[in-house]
Amino acid sequence: MSYQSDVSDRQTVADQLSDEVIEKYRLYVNPGIAAVHAFSGFAVPGSHARGCYIWDASGRKFLDCVGGYGAFSLGHLHPKVVDAVKKQLEKEALKSQYLLCAELAEACELLASVLPGEIRYSFLCNSGAEAVEGALKAARIHTGRPEFIGAVNGFHGKTFGSLSVSGREIYKTPFYPLLPETKHVPFGDANALANAISNRTAAVILEVVQGEGGVIIAPDDYLPKVREICDDAGALLILDEVRTCLGRTGKMFASEHYEVVPDIVTMAKALGGGVMPVGAFSSTEEVWQSLFGANPYLHSTTFGGNPLACVAVTAAIKTTIEEGLVERSARLGEILLEGLKAVQSTHPDMIKDVRGKGLLAGVEFAEDDIALLVIAGCGKRDVLMAYSMNNPRVIRIEPPLIIEESELTRALEVLAESIEETAEMVARIADG
Ligand SMILES: Cc1ncc(COP(=O)(O)O)c(C=O)c1O
Repeated sequence: MSYQSDVSDRQTVADQLSDEVIEKYRLYVNPGIAAVHAFSGFAVPGSHARGCYIWDASGRKFLDCVGGYGAFSLGHLHPKVVDAVKKQLEKEALKSQYLLCAELAEACELLASVLPGEIRYSFLCNSGAEAVEGALKAARIHTGRPEFIGAVNGFHGKTFGSLSVSGREIYKTPFYPLLPETKHVPFGDANALANAISNRTAAVILEVVQGEGGVIIAPDDYLPKVREICDDAGALLILDEVRTCLGRTGKMFASEHYEVVPDIVTMAKALGGGVMPVGAFSSTEEVWQSLFGANPYLHSTTFGGNPLACVAVTAAIKTTIEEGLVERSARLGEILLEGLKAVQSTHPDMIKDVRGKGLLAGVEFAEDDIALLVIAGCGKRDVLMAYSMNNPRVIRIEPPLIIEESELTRALEVLAESIEETAEMVARIADG
């Protein structure tokens, strides 16, 4: 069989598979998502993934700069994490519940060695939202206060508690009433927080860099001021590092950029090494005493902290350190930001801002709809980039931290081409 006919056979099989999968999505998963994929031309299901690349069922290969919204810091199927999980799978997958779990003890000990300040105890769960739920409960019981303050456009998940402290109405309004006594203040505005906080506030919860909000980086003095405001009010500071933990921003935890230690930190995404779904919230001995001192079962989970997840956490942290990925993220992040500034200079009217910390970068367009067109143009050129749920004018670039400089350069070239193409299209439409 010739190479050409092999390729076209594969395409036919992939087209059939796409139709079947779209139909099953339509009937059994989510008709809206089926329609979006059918319309966008991204209807072929994924086949497999390795390192910085994903292949679809037709054999097409994409450079993954979406990075699982931060989950694939180690890339796809990092061999060290896969080995650890495979070995554990030969022994025991999920917790017996009755016996102690050595893998959990080891993962929490290693986590304590990298967590900021005096934060030592960790509770492992299955997702970012679950980590946030635990953090909110810990703050409530520790302070005995009812209120939470979040940030406008902050994102913490879509369960009731995490949604309550998130700051985008479109995802909240259909589900009211949510948690009572939640307030939202503009991110980066310490005065607004000082005016909103009171002796009813259990905790202030913030991302260090707003991810879904569009890679919003607070002024340098913001988090130190927030820390002070919380301390003065007797409220806890929860920093949500679900997206930014384990090196994403060029520090092990993004809070280290500001030398601020929170009372509670939440994590997920990269924590499972891109192989297992894992979340965690961690805090100090005092907060743990409030949460678990009287009743060690006050907060619990069946699947959280299972041996498979725990060995993935241990391997993820060790690999991040051994492979120097925190430093790599900082170094490559500078190259990425320089490249984005160069792209911006070619279309200053169209691109309002470019920004980033480590390998979490954003490109903000001046108009609606441009980001989606540019993302589609990148996809057409086999490079995947992300849309920001709480800020549709912003493209997020979150590649694996193991990405090579040459691959980053390619992503920048593709972005520039796609922006050029979109600018020409917009100009043609404007000319009628
Ligand atoms: C900062 C932050 N917190 C919490 C979450 C929720 O995590 P999950 O989707 O695992 O529930 C996300 C998800 O994107 C996030 O970015």
